[in-house]
Amino acid sequence: MSKRNLVATFVAAALCLFAASWDTVSAQRAKDQNARGRQLYYQYCASCHGDDARGGGPVAVSLKGTVPDLHKIAKVDGKFPALRVKQIIKGEVDTPAHGTKEMPVWGRVFREAKGNSMTELNLYALTKYLEAIQEK
Ligand code: HEC
Repeated sequence: MSKRNLVATFVAAALCLFAASWDTVSAQRAKDQNARGRQLYYQYCASCHGDDARGGGPVAVSLKGTVPDLHKIAKVDGKFPALRVKQIIKGEVDTPAHGTKEMPVWGRVFREAKGNSMTELNLYALTKYLEAIQEK
């Protein structure tokens, strides 16, 4: 799929979801631009990276290395490396604490991305969430 088609799929899926949930969504959630991304973060990443994404999740103490502060990803090369972050989540970049590509610690949720617009949408929302919390 071309990048353009991918973007169009994201937009279409996002619009469908938005339309479908328009009636039930609470006023608070409607204000939140990326509730999905935040929810995915809490569900799959906060155990190690922490609720505040500073690296102090409950599992962090039992790991050998330190868990990075996810507010500082953009600090390294001056801008948020969205592609690299997506690859990390998909398991395409070696990140030992995340498990293997075949068996990531959070299971296969972000893995079957090809042809599954819901997985793509989740991957996109989670990456956007991380981008939004970067320190300037
Ligand atoms: C089992 C604990 C654990 C879980 C769960 C976890 N991480 Fe990590 N993460 C780490 C550790 C530890 C590192 C440092 C690299 C390493 O040792 O593998 C890391 C590194 C990263 C990095 C690279 C940071 C940088 O500055 O380069 C990103 C991005 C990241 N994690 C995102 C996530 C996301 C998104 C999730 C949820 C889908 C997640 N992690 C879930 C432990 C975890």
